[in-house]
Amino acid sequence: MGATGTLAGKVAVVTGGGRGIGAAIAGGLAAAGARVCVAARSMAEIETTAAAIGTDALALPVDVTDAASVAALYQGVVARAGGIDILFVNAGVSLDQAKVEASDPALFERTIAVNLTGAYHCARLAIPHMRARGGGRMVIIGSGMGHNSLNGHAAYSCSKAAVWMLVRILANELRGDGISVNELVPGPVRTAMTAGTLDSGGVIGSPVEWVKQPEDVVPLAVMLAGYPGTGPTGQSFSLMRRTV
Ligand SMILES: NC(=O)c1ccc[n+]([C@@H]2O[C@H](COP(=O)([O-])OP(=O)(O)OC[C@H]3O[C@@H](n4cnc5c(N)ncnc54)[C@H](OP(=O)(O)O)[C@@H]3O)[C@@H](O)[C@H]2O)c1
Repeated sequence: MGATGTLAGKVAVVTGGGRGIGAAIAGGLAAAGARVCVAARSMAEIETTAAAIGTDALALPVDVTDAASVAALYQGVVARAGGIDILFVNAGVSLDQAKVEASDPALFERTIAVNLTGAYHCARLAIPHMRARGGGRMVIIGSGMGHNSLNGHAAYSCSKAAVWMLVRILANELRGDGISVNELVPGPVRTAMTAGTLDSGGVIGSPVEWVKQPEDVVPLAVMLAGYPGTGPTGQSFSLMRRTV
């Protein structure tokens, strides 16, 4: 018997699916019926995540900073699962350590390479695959820090601000192709990325903020992946409880 659920028959790719928010989203998409491929650099993590989801799940390596690696990922997914309907551009890093004057240019460039150029490669190379399926759903994981400034986080905030612009441009460019492109802003989530930062009393640890577990992001992710009809496009959906 085939999968049932709102995403039955759909194939979903989740970059950065080995842990944290991506792993939770991958599990949620699979529970909704999608065939899921989790992708990242750490094979052990993506294999563990895929094994936890079930025998149908795929674990394929990717370095999103390398266009050839992203292209190979998608070829692998199409060869094994027949196509790509849903893409979560989730892989990301947060490497900022200092205000701009004291910051390390290498960390700035690396952050842009993963969070922005990586999102560009992942989105760009998915377009022909989604068009071949008659449409698709792209969800790019943004950040409240891409909508608001926070001292000491120039690289991350600039990368995510640019990603929000990329979402809107892609949405307009793909409007006639049945491919929706939206941003999901998780707000603070307890993951390896935020370990040791959420309880320090800074802006991100504000008492008005909703500090989440990765699973708390899943309902919105599944809703955006399976929105009936064409659904919204070029929009930002936030789980934050403060104005971004
Ligand atoms: N946690 C939060 O509070 C929060 C808030 C807002 C937005 N976000 C965003 O949510 C997304 C997920 O974050 P998270 O908190 O779940 O972080 P995480 O636990 O550190 O997971 C990041 C994932 O991205 C992958 N990744 C990093 N560099 C990569 C590369 N070059 N190529 C392929 N995969 C790569 C990692 O795997 P490998 O290292 O094995 O490649 C890992 O699977 C990120 O885009 C982040 O900016 C997080």
